[in-house]
Formats: sequence, C-alpha cells, structure tokens
Amino acid sequence: MGRTPRREFLKLGAIAASASLLRSVGAEAATLRSPDKLDRYVDPLPIPKRMVPVSTKSGKDVYRVRMMEFEGKLHSQLPPTRMWGYEGQYPGPVIEAFRGRPVQVQWLNQLPRKHLLPVDKNIHGAMDPTPEVRTVPHLHGSATDSISDGLPEDWFTPGHSATFDYPNRQRAAALWYHDHAMGITRLNMYAGMAGFYLLRDAEEKRMGLPAGENEIPLILQDRTLDAQGQLVYAPTGDDSVALPRGTWGPMFFGELPVVNGAIFPYVDVRPEMYRLRLLNASNSRFVNLYLNLAKNATDIPRLMTMRQIGSDGGLLPRPVAMEKILLGPGERADLVVDFSELAGKTLLLNNDASAPYPGWTVMGGSWPQLPEWMQFRVQLPKGPKRSYSLPSDVLVEKLDVAAAVRTREFVLSEELDANGKSLGLHINGKGYDDPVTEEVTLGTTEVWRFVNTSDDAHTMHLHLVQFQVVGRQGFDLATFRTSGKVSAKGVAQAPHPGESGWKDTAAVNPGEVLTIVTRFEGFTGRYVFHCHMLEHEDNDMMRPFLVLAPKASPAPARGR
Ligand code: C2O
Ligand code: CU
Ligand code: CU
Repeated sequence: MGRTPRREFLKLGAIAASASLLRSVGAEAATLRSPDKLDRYVDPLPIPKRMVPVSTKSGKDVYRVRMMEFEGKLHSQLPPTRMWGYEGQYPGPVIEAFRGRPVQVQWLNQLPRKHLLPVDKNIHGAMDPTPEVRTVPHLHGSATDSISDGLPEDWFTPGHSATFDYPNRQRAAALWYHDHAMGITRLNMYAGMAGFYLLRDAEEKRMGLPAGENEIPLILQDRTLDAQGQLVYAPTGDDSVALPRGTWGPMFFGELPVVNGAIFPYVDVRPEMYRLRLLNASNSRFVNLYLNLAKNATDIPRLMTMRQIGSDGGLLPRPVAMEKILLGPGERADLVVDFSELAGKTLLLNNDASAPYPGWTVMGGSWPQLPEWMQFRVQLPKGPKRSYSLPSDVLVEKLDVAAAVRTREFVLSEELDANGKSLGLHINGKGYDDPVTEEVTLGTTEVWRFVNTSDDAHTMHLHLVQFQVVGRQGFDLATFRTSGKVSAKGVAQAPHPGESGWKDTAAVNPGEVLTIVTRFEGFTGRYVFHCHMLEHEDNDMMRPFLVLAPKASPAPARGR
C-alpha cells in the first residue's frame, strides 16, 4: 500500500476520536428500551480486568476475592441489572497465574442472606434447613487438593470465607473459576459468579502467540431479562413450557447473548493476529460458533477460517484449521484468528447450534435460538511492528488406552414421571448422595465410558484431571432398554480435530457412547464428576469419586 504510515495513523486516529464522540453523545441521549428491542453492537466489549494480588511474597500470589451483590449495566439502553459477582464484577476479574508459582485465594462470601433468584427447595442439597444463600468456588480444570477443590458440599454462608490453594503444577491453560454450591450452582452462576483463571507457562511464552491487547478472553452466556432489565431465571420442561417460578427444570435457554457481561457487544480490532480465549459458561446452551464476513444476517454466510490452538487443558499438538467451533457448557477453545487482510471489514460471531442440542422432537416446542453474539470491526490501525506466530512443536503426551487398569461404564439417563415431566437426571441410576462407587488408585490410567440414553447431549466433566477423548460410538437404544447391553451401532467416530489435546469437559450426544482415557494424578481424596449443564448437575447428574493411595505392598492375609 502506498500510503505513508504517518498519514494513515492520523487519519484513523481522527476517525476513532469522532466515533467515540458520537458514541458518548449517543449514550447520553439513549432512551431506555425493553430487552427485546435493544440496538445491536452499540456497546464496546468489556475486557475483564486483571485481579491484583494482595501479596506476592514467598513465591506465591495471594488474592482476596469478595462475592458481592452489585448493580451493573448489561447494555447502555437498559437500566442497571442487579447481579452477584466476584469483587462486584460480572464476569469476575481475570486471575493470571504462572506454572510453578502457587496461588492462594481467600474467598469471602459477602452476599445477602436472601437469594437473588427463587430457590427450589425440593431438590437434593437445597432442602430446609439448608441456608438459602451458600457458595463454594471451584477452579475448573485445575489439579488441586480435595480440600481446596470447592466440592459442592463444602459451601459456606454469608459472613464466612474459605482459603483455597492452587498449586499450578499443570500446563498453561484457560481454567475458570465459578460457584459450585450444592443444589444451587445453576442459580449462583446465573447470578454472575464465574471468571477466567489464565494459567501461563514458559513453553507458551516462547511461542510468540498474540498477547496483550491481541489476546481477548470471551465468556459467553445466555440471559433473560424482565422489562426492568432484571435477571429472570425461567427454566423449562422438555416440552419448552416454562415452569412455575422457583421450580427446577431440566433446561434453561436465555433470550439474550451476553459476552463478557455485555449484550450484543462489538470490539474494534487491528488488522493483525488475535488470540481468542473462548468459554461457554451458559447453563444449558451449546454454541457452534463461526466468524461471518457476510454483510447482512440474511446473506449467504462467508466464513472466516480460524485456527484452534488449544482446548480445555492447554495447547494442541498442532493448530487445527476450522470454520466452526462447537462448545458445550463448560468447554473452552483457544483460537487464533488473523484479521491482517481484513482492514475495514466487519465480522459477526454467529452460532448455529440448536437449543436444546443437538435437536429436539417435541411438537410445538420452541426455545430462543441465538444466531448472533457479537461483532468484530477491523478498524483500528496496525500496531507498531507487531508480528505473532502460531504454536509449533507442542509436545502432548498421548495416553495409552492399553495401559488402563480398568474400564468403567456410566449410563446417563433422565427420569420422567408418567406425564413425561423430568424428575431429574442420573448417572448409573444414582444421585450424588448415594454411596461412593468409584475408587481409583493414584497414578493409574483408566478408561471411562459415558453411555447417553437420554434425548439430549451432555457435557461430562471430571474434577482433578485432564483427559483425552478416545472416540464416540453409536449404540442400539432398543437393545439397551431390553437387555441393558451396550451394543455398538454405526461407525466409530474419532475425536474431533479440536480434541487432539487435553480436555476436562466433553460432549456426548444422545444414543452415543463417549470414551475417554485419563491418569489419576496429583492428589488423593474426594472429587466429583458431573454433567456441566447446570440444571443437570444440580439435580442430580453428579457423582463423587475417590482417589486412593496405592497399597504399599500386598499385606499378608490375617485370619480372624
Ligand atoms: Cu466447572 Cu464441577 O465444574
Ligand atoms: Cu470442575
Ligand atoms: Cu446433562
């Protein structure tokens, strides 16, 4: 291009200045609107602030994080929304951690004693006399001692705190913290309690990946607001009929797309490479995301190729080119997108996953579908001599299925009453409080198979470990119903290209078996595994597992 860099800079600078002037005038004149009539792409994408440690002494970073009720704007045309958040922010501030440098967090519950949302006291773990407001933060994806893991039963009430230690011995990854209190996780997270915990390491640093302003964390969540702009949590039955307020339901799909706490935001980017750290933190919704260059929503989509460089547990062995990325609740993706050739262009972040996922057969059932989430505008000037690269030569150990000492099978099911109303979901017909059935030995490898007999997909998550997806396989449901046998049907599917590394959450479609392999390492103690669709996790699709120390040597049998 023949333009001098200097002029280019001035010209674009002037445009940027006048645009922001217009925006502030517009904001002042903005009249409040009802949530279904909001303008799209008038609010800039908020970038969550980095949390500042209260101490960095003796080789560890210490944080103090208060959980608070507060009011914040989700859109400039809405009145402030009352929410719950870590440090009074939604989403919570980013904790940045470094491999080998432990983090300690004192989590303080400073919430009111009355819940922000109606609580169903009939479901497991929420019954009287359990206090209505209780919290316990969990660092999702981390290998942490059981006492610091944030087990659902380890909740504490307003006025109390818990101090948790995160050793950060694992590889760099986009972990995230969120509430996990028994029986109300879906409500506490819906009220706003989730944030990123970005773990870094030397390997990642030497890659020269897009960083600073060119690394954007994106937390996607769907929300419904009333006419006053306040949060409405209205789950539905499997027939899409809304349940009476304060009643548990098997699914929730919000009417509005919220990214980093803003509805329909836009972000201005430079014609450079960007790293997007994506997290689907929705209650029930899957998203299948793509960047679309088409001018209008009704035009034929023009998809931009993205490169997935990492999954839940860190970098993939090599970047994978893709046009769409599927993320179920709890899953993350590390993407690199290159806007270099797109100066002046606008891209939409679109979604074509159906809600519920992967589809539903109920006649007349309908839930809000959210095809648009946010906008990227390539209208900032190119920065001074910045160049970034994609990761190369990432060493990812491949777990050997043959090394597994044991294979466990978990049948996922939904319990329905005579009218087809959901009474809850289960793993092997059991709920959370049933006696522990899974005892694994520290240091051993196991294969776990999730057999989905229900009508919708689930995202299965294990605490403590990262695992690898071995594959997926259809099975014959009729045979299973009559004989309880899982007989394979159709072709076995290899893991998706984006599942070539470490995962802690993975989807299993109806009528499919998901097979994973993992090694139980790091700590002994009690942990949990569950579906990460929050409605399911709360009632009652979650089970404990114990990690036991290996028996030292076979003890001589002692007769009695
Ligand atoms: Cu994201 Cu058991 O949690
Ligand atoms: Cu977790
Ligand atoms: Cu589920």
